[in-house]
Amino acid sequence: MTEPGPQPPPLGVYVHWPYCARICPYCDFNVYRDRGRSAEQAALVAAIVQDLATQAALTGPRTLVSVFFGGGTPSLMDPDAVALILETARRLWTPAGDLEVSLEANPTDAETQRFAALAQAGVGRLSLGVQALNDDALRFLGRDHDAATARRALAVAAQAFGRVSLDLIYARPGQTPAAWTAELEEALAYGVEHVSPYQLTIEAGTAFDRAVRRGQLVPPDDEAAATLFETTQAVLAEAGFEAYEVSNHARGEAARSRHNLVYWRGWDYVGVGPGAHGRITLGGHRHATEAQARPAAYIGAVGESGRGFPVLEPLSAEAAAEERALSGLRIKAGVAYSELVALGLSPDHNRVKTLVAEGLLAEDNYKLRATPAGRLVLDHVTRRLLV
Ligand SMILES: C[S@@+](CC[C@H](N)C(=O)[O-])C[C@H]1O[C@@H](n2cnc3c(N)ncnc32)[C@H](O)[C@@H]1O
Ligand code: SF4
Repeated sequence: MTEPGPQPPPLGVYVHWPYCARICPYCDFNVYRDRGRSAEQAALVAAIVQDLATQAALTGPRTLVSVFFGGGTPSLMDPDAVALILETARRLWTPAGDLEVSLEANPTDAETQRFAALAQAGVGRLSLGVQALNDDALRFLGRDHDAATARRALAVAAQAFGRVSLDLIYARPGQTPAAWTAELEEALAYGVEHVSPYQLTIEAGTAFDRAVRRGQLVPPDDEAAATLFETTQAVLAEAGFEAYEVSNHARGEAARSRHNLVYWRGWDYVGVGPGAHGRITLGGHRHATEAQARPAAYIGAVGESGRGFPVLEPLSAEAAAEERALSGLRIKAGVAYSELVALGLSPDHNRVKTLVAEGLLAEDNYKLRATPAGRLVLDHVTRRLLV
């Protein structure tokens, strides 16, 4: 009798909706202006449904723990399309009893009016891109909503969805710790269970990148940014939020984003929609997928082959272990040494010992974790660990 193989990992589904009402000057995601191309959008929904079916044949039966609609701006999607995609995913895999369904939303009035329909379509967790609760900051960020609109959206979201998370961008030019504390505290007063405060990053090729090069935009220096990071941690800890990941804080374990934990724990995820990435374990080996980035190219690829990605790329044991280290060190729980074998990392390894001695990593016999000091300079830590 043959031994049963190891259980395949649980599965998340990421759906990328690439359209936005306008493109923000700091954003380098795979996004396109929404010009109301309804024929293209209908074709995209059909392609996503077909891509899901093709990938389900590849993964075989799995427990589906999360579906995440990200973007772009999926709050611009037709709620019927959201319902169709969800119904398809539920039919193709076995939904976990506590399947998490999240959707990213921009807080404009037009989108807020659709929250009830999106909840009706099956979305249980809204991730609201508030970004700031200050009109000057929102203008600086090029957002198409003001602080009053965002406050209205927060109030409606709290009524419509069981779970609400909000995204904020800090380390804006001239931002003081006192002003940031007041803004964070105001956001928390809406009773959200989860907050993702992201430090403003100047991404290559964006309008902000060009402004920095011209000297028109001067982001805070490293010291000022570190002070704002520490302010964030202190304010959220004081309010009862646990920093379970570098930029993710939850009020209790049930409030953590299960979808992000799929990534950080190294579980599998199917990516559908333009530019979506996936990781699928087949025969004990991890494979990477990356869908065609442009909507028309994605729709064309699905039309030809049934799937949006050109190749199913096997990852080497080293590449897979490196991914595990990079994502596992982002979360408080850390990463097991048993997942880092291909990199030769163990408690006795010199690089591990040095970073532990410097207080940047902590380890017990079977897990490696970044300390709070290490998480503050995580890029530096992982560069030194994974040379
Ligand atoms: C790609 S957006 C999608 C959500 C939605 N369209 C929105 O803008 O709110 C996801 C999140 O990434 C964050 N983000 C995108 N670019 C960023 C940057 N350059 N620096 C910091 N945060 C960024 C924002 O907080 C945003 O909410
Ligand atoms: S930040 Fe959000 S709304 Fe702005 S361009 Fe990026 S995805 Fe679109």
